[in-house]
Order: sequence, then C-alpha cells, then structure tokens
Amino acid sequence: MLFRRNAKTEAVAPKGPRGVSSWFSTHAFDSEPKPFPLRDYLRALPKPMVDGAKAAMDSWDGDGFSKVFGQDQTILSGAIVGWYGAQSFISHQLAAIIAQQWLVNKACTVPARDAVRKGYNVVTEDGDDLHPDAVKAIKLYDRRFRIRQQLTEFVRMGRVFGIRIAMFKVESTDPEYYEKPFNLDGVTKGSYKGIVQIDPYWTAPMLDGAAASQPDTLHFYEPTWWMINGRKVHRSHLCIYMHDPVPDTGLWVGCWVIALAVLLRSDNTAPVSVPARAVPAPLRVAHGVSALALVAIFLALHIANHLVFPAGQQTYEAVMKLFRHVYRGEILQPLLVALFLFQIGTGLFFVWRETAKPSDHFRTFQIASGVYLAFYVLGHMDSVFIYARTYLGIDTGWGFATGAPAGLVKDPWNIRLVPHYWLGVFFVLAHLAAGARVILMGHGVRRVFADRVMIAGAVVAGIVATVIMLGMCGMRIQFV
Ligand code: HEM
Repeated sequence: MLFRRNAKTEAVAPKGPRGVSSWFSTHAFDSEPKPFPLRDYLRALPKPMVDGAKAAMDSWDGDGFSKVFGQDQTILSGAIVGWYGAQSFISHQLAAIIAQQWLVNKACTVPARDAVRKGYNVVTEDGDDLHPDAVKAIKLYDRRFRIRQQLTEFVRMGRVFGIRIAMFKVESTDPEYYEKPFNLDGVTKGSYKGIVQIDPYWTAPMLDGAAASQPDTLHFYEPTWWMINGRKVHRSHLCIYMHDPVPDTGLWVGCWVIALAVLLRSDNTAPVSVPARAVPAPLRVAHGVSALALVAIFLALHIANHLVFPAGQQTYEAVMKLFRHVYRGEILQPLLVALFLFQIGTGLFFVWRETAKPSDHFRTFQIASGVYLAFYVLGHMDSVFIYARTYLGIDTGWGFATGAPAGLVKDPWNIRLVPHYWLGVFFVLAHLAAGARVILMGHGVRRVFADRVMIAGAVVAGIVATVIMLGMCGMRIQFV
C-alpha cells in the first residue's frame, strides 16, 4: 500500500493595513483592524519543524493553542477571544492558556518557588519561638495538607490570573457556615479538610449595602462575599492574593523606547561637545597601585581558589581554608574592603571624566568592564558579608558558591549566576589587561604591541572564566 503525504499547505498570515504591530506596543495587536482575527494569527505563527516529523520535541510548548483552536472545535469562542483582545483585560481563560507557554509559566512559577524555597518559621503572635512539640505537630500537618505545594500554586496562579482565592474547607453541619463570618468555634475536631484554590472564573464578588455605598466603612468596595459553587462565602473564610493591581509594564516599555530612541538618534561621528577634563595623574597611579595590592592580597588567591572547582568540594574547601589565613586576617580583611570601595569610587569618577572624551574600542572596553565590576563587586560583597555571613549566618564556602544542593544549572533561580560569575571573572582579568595596555603605552611601548597584550589578556581571562564556570556547573577532573 502506498502512503502519500498530503501536499504541504503554507499557512497564510492575515493581512492588515500596517502588517505587524509596533515592536514596543503592550497590545500586540493594536495596529490591526478590529475585531482582530486572533485565531488565524495564531495558526499562522511559524512553528519549528524537523523534516518529516510533526514538530521537534524541544519545540513542545504545551498544547495550549492547539487545544483552543484544535481541529476547528473551538473550546474558546474566537469571537469572545477577539472581543477580550480588544479590551484592556484579555480574560482569565486566555491568561490561563498563555501561561501554558513554558517561558510564561517559568516567569509565574519561579518567584513562587523562590518564596518558599527556604521554608518558613511559625512563631507566636508576639514573635517568640513555639514549643518544639508544637512546631513538630505543625510540620506534620503542613505535610499532610501539602502546604508547600499550596503556597507555590497560590502565588503561581495568582501571577497567571492576577488574583487567586484560597478557601479553607470545613465540613460543617451549619448550612450557613460559609455565609457567616469565620468563627473558630465552628471548626470542630476533624472537620477541617484543607485548602481549596479556586480559579477566578468560578467566582463572583458580592458586596453588602455598606461595602457598596458607605465610603467611610473599613471594607468599602471590598467584596463581602464571593459566590462559589452557588453559595455565598464570607471573605473571612478566604485568603485572597492580588498580583500587581497596577502593572508597570507600560512604564518599562516606555523607558526602553526612550532609551532606544536616544541611542538611535545619537551620532557617533559628531565631535564631542562636552569639555573633557583630564583625570588627575596621581589618582590614576593610586587606582593602579590599589589594583596591584588587591591582586596580591586577594584576587590572585581568590581566582586560583576558584580554578580548583573542577577538583571537587574537598580540595576546593581545603584551598579556601588555607587562603583565608591571608585575606581574612584582622588587618587585611578591612583593608581589602576599603581598597575595593576606593577602586569603585575612583573608577566611577574616571568613567565620568572619560566618557566625555572620544575613545577607541580598547578604551571603551576598559570603561565598560569597570562599570560592570563596580556593580558586581558591590553586589558580591553585599551577598558575602551582609546576606550570607551576617543575615543567614552561614559559611561562605562551596555550598554558598555553587548553590548546593540544587546546583547552578538545575535551579531556575541559580542559573542566572552562571553569566554573572563568568562575566565577573572575565572582566576583572580583562580589565587588568586593559590597565596594563595603558601603562605599557605610557612607558613608550608601541601601541600595536600594547593592544596585543590586552587581547591576549582578554583571551586568557575568557579561558580562566570558562574553566571556573565548568567546575562550578559540575565538571570534574580526576588525576589517576
Ligand atoms: C566565579 C566567580 C566568583 C565566585 C564563585 C566567588 C565566590 C566567592 C566566595 C564563595 C566568597 C567567600 C570567600 C570566603 O568565605 O572565604 C567570595 C568572597 C569575595 N569575593 Fe568572590 N567570587 C567570584 C569572583 C569574584 C571577583 C571577580 C571578585 C572581584 C572583582 C570577587 C570579590 C570578592 C570579595 C571582595 C570577597 C570577600 C572576601 C572576604 O571574605 O574577605 N569575587 N567570593
């Protein structure tokens, strides 16, 4: 029997008067005539394909769109979607569908997971610790009622919908239990069953007379009840999460548009009009001397220590223990912090002066890497000294650096540290190389040679940063 593949039909994108909408629009479809043909638009979106296969596995974003519009059986009416699309609110249903896309899902889920990652402490109303037996009992019930999952889901779906309602399920003999305000006496032994979370389209707010008409009442315009499953549920039985009632997306998009417009309008060929003032020579020398001191008392050891990541935890920690005798000394540690602050202060002053002058690529790299380091070092010292050692009271060793036990790669929050650290190591070494270039030229060395020194330095910096990051991400070297 012969199977013949159907001829491929190219999806046709809908035609509008201005084609694709503005790149910066928060309303992706605002330049189209209304009602917008959303269904055709989604169908026409390019889908990653592997020859002969229906779709590449990695392209699998969940079946949100295909379920909505699959096989011409529209679960969500195209007309309704189009109508909502034309409003400022896209509807809860569409929000839920969009949240099936992996990146959107991550954006909603990661803050929720982060919030409960470190767990939580239950204390008395005065903030005192509970009796250990009470803590034990609470922990047991937290597990039984899956509080951690509930909390994550609460925030995650709250971010998806903009609102999340959690109801405390109690089996009561009183038919008006939920309509009346919550009363602990109504919760008899064994009657509490857990938390139920309700999607917003299954609920409707209801206001009593005072809430609807008396602006001086405490709960003015706050729903007194929520209609859930045909029943009035008083708000005191519910825990309601609202995410960002006034989103700042528009503000950020506006800022980026202005920044881009300024950038695009700038003329790189125009002569610099700001009067350039030279950086005082003694300050330059001081910046260089302080850099040398930092390399000698700390950076050389610190980077060498990180190069041991591929040798594993034990070796890394042994080396760190040894090096701490130097940079954690009573005199050297405060000196180190002071030198870094001096480096940042003088460096930012140089940036201020230098950016008023024309500069070549090498100079621009030197300035830009310095700016990154100023932020990096401040952030890094904050997390080492203040967050980890002072606030959490933990040792800043292997576990702290590698985000153990989850590690850097598998944890959606930690993975952002990979480029952060890579750039930190790369820029600190390349910035030193850029400094060496300026010193060489100042001592009469040919410019071509000085440039090559800097390029070689940057290549070494890239290799060192890569080896460190591979070690931090799990690469191990064994000597047999
Ligand atoms: C892969 C990159 C890096 C990692 C994983 C890392 C990690 C760490 C860790 C674990 C500590 C604590 C050390 C200890 O407890 O003894 C630390 C301290 C510190 N790091 Fe880094 N670091 C990196 C790169 C850098 C760079 C590029 C700089 C400077 C430009 C820097 C500046 C510092 C400073 C100033 C301290 C405080 C030192 C002290 O304890 O007195 N680090 N870093």
